[in-house]
Formats: sequence, structure tokens, C-alpha cells
Amino acid sequence: MRALTVVPGQAGSARLDDVDDPPDSDGPVLVETLAIGVCGTDAEIIGGAYGWAPPGRDRLVLGHESLGRVLEAPPGAEVAKGDLVVGIVRRPDPVPCGSCAVGEWDMCRNERYTERGIKEHDGYCSERYRIHPDFAVKVDPGLGMLGVLLEPASVLAKAWEQVERIGARAHWEPQRCVVTGAGPIGLLAALLGVQRGLEVHVFDVVKDGPKPALVARLGATYHTDSLEAACSRSDVAIECTGAGSLVFDAMGHMAPGGIVCLTGVSSGGRSLSVDAGALNRGMVLENEVVVGSVNANRRHYQAGAEALAKADPAFLNGLVSRRVPLEQWKEAITRQPGDVKVVLEVGA
Ligand code: BGC
Repeated sequence: MRALTVVPGQAGSARLDDVDDPPDSDGPVLVETLAIGVCGTDAEIIGGAYGWAPPGRDRLVLGHESLGRVLEAPPGAEVAKGDLVVGIVRRPDPVPCGSCAVGEWDMCRNERYTERGIKEHDGYCSERYRIHPDFAVKVDPGLGMLGVLLEPASVLAKAWEQVERIGARAHWEPQRCVVTGAGPIGLLAALLGVQRGLEVHVFDVVKDGPKPALVARLGATYHTDSLEAACSRSDVAIECTGAGSLVFDAMGHMAPGGIVCLTGVSSGGRSLSVDAGALNRGMVLENEVVVGSVNANRRHYQAGAEALAKADPAFLNGLVSRRVPLEQWKEAITRQPGDVKVVLEVGA
């Protein structure tokens, strides 16, 4: 079968390959892949900056944002033939640590987890894949191809859960939220903020293209001048760029009790000059919190699936800005003006 593979650590090694059928060891559910979302992590893996091949192998099958249709499932499983499903990305570490042991692999304590399409386990960008039912999440059939947005939505469902759990440390009535970055992650963060009844402000440097209208469609406000002008005194900031200056900017402009949630995986190597004392003083005197959030467990996929099912389909459709057939994968990974989420079409 065809699969998009890469030698992690080697830029320019991605290719459309002919690979063996999926191994039984991946699970009893056989899935036909329909679509694969392309994200910044894929670009990093393809660029040789991230990713790990399965043990004893050079090449890794890419793809962690998926949508597929079940071809075969064992009787009594939670998924059945014909269901639209999304595969969970992370697998618990083999020890397992306390977090993985209770199904919170997104909080793995020993970093020995694996991730499909990213870390030591083949991804979903092949014509078919196998999976254990515990790691397949059903999506509303009404969503159709838009179900491919579930993996990124799960990452934001986790981020919002973190924010709410931290907020619950004391009396908390959040009203304003700022989201930095209007890429797919930022737009989904904004969607979840609006669904919670918050006044949402989205900051991005891009002035044209589809992003301003997508934000307006949500009922949120789009800003391009400065983060301070976008929303000083926010109760919540969801940082979705990984740009160091924005991270510190957000930290400096929160309302008392503000919670900054960092979701952007940045590349290192850039230094910034910050007044650490003033930042520290502000955070202490105003009980502020900065929290990092990555990945998602099954509970977050379920929350993400519910959020997508009740979202405006026109907004979700606008998020998927380009659909590219698998054979033209090179076009999919080459950024074009107006790109938001680019999706590879793998099956019918
Ligand atoms: C994925 C996460 C993953 C993270 C780090 C992100 O792109 O959405 O599931 O944990 O990369 O590998």
C-alpha cells in the first residue's frame, strides 16, 4: 500500500513509498485512511528537525492528524465497520509511569511514550492502518471530512481543561480571552473560548487572507497591531505561536489571576531580553499562572469531538483551506498564501 514516509533527522528524505500491510500488532481494528491533516510538526519532521523512526528502522510513516473509515472491527468493540474514526496520537510508555497507567499519557512522566507519525511508531498516512479500539475515537458522521480536525481540536480541549482546572483553584469568573496566532490551533482555541461564552480576541500579524473573516465568523475580534492593544487584562491567554516575544508579552498583560497556557512548540536558539524581576513581581502580586500543555488523552478527544459537532460547519470548512491528493503531497507541505489547514486526501 502507499504511504508517505520520511527518515527522521534527514531533510529532503520524505517520499511516497510502497509499504507492507499494517502489522497485526498495531491492533485488531483495520481502518481505511480518508484524510490526513498537515501541521507544523509534520513540516519539522520533513525538514529533519524532529521525529524518531520505530526501533530498528530508518523510515517512519508520517501522519498524526487523521480521519478514516473502519473496515474491520472485532465484535463488541466500541467501533464498528463503516464508522468514521480518528486515531489517538500518543501511546502510553511501557513502564508505565503513574500518568500513563491511568490513561493520562499526555502527561507522561518518563518521556518513553510513543506517538504515531512522530515518535517511534508509524503514523496514519498510509492507505490503511491498524489500531486498538481504545485508541480509535468515533466522530459525528455529519462532520464528514471535517473530522480530520479532531486531533488538533483535542490538543485545545486539553489546553482549555488545564486552564479551567487551574482557574478552579479559587473563585474565578473569566470574561476575556486572548489567543495568539490565527493558524488552525489558534482558531480552534478561539472556537473553544467562544463556546465557553468568553469574549475572545485573536492576535496575528497577517492582515489579509481568510483568517480575519474566520475569526469574525466565530464572533471573536481579530487584531494585528499589538498584543497589548488586542487585549490587555485578559483572564486567559492561549499562546499558539511558540514565538518567545509573544509568550512574554502575554505574561505581562494579564488581568490579576490570569492564566497563560502555552501550546506552541518553539525551536530554541533565540534569546530575548526580559525584565525578569518585574515579570516575577507581577506574577506573584497578581497570582498569575503560566502552564505548558501538549498532546491529549481520550477524554480530550471526546471533548474535541463534541466541540466540533456543535461548531458552525462553515467555520470548520473555512479552516480547511486546501485539500490535496496524496500523490501531490509535495504541494501540501509547501506553504501557500491563504493556507490555514491543508489536508491530504488519501482515500475515497
Ligand atoms: C501533536 C501532539 C504531539 C506534539 C509533540 C503535535 O503536533 O499534535 O499530539 O504530542 O506534536 O510531538
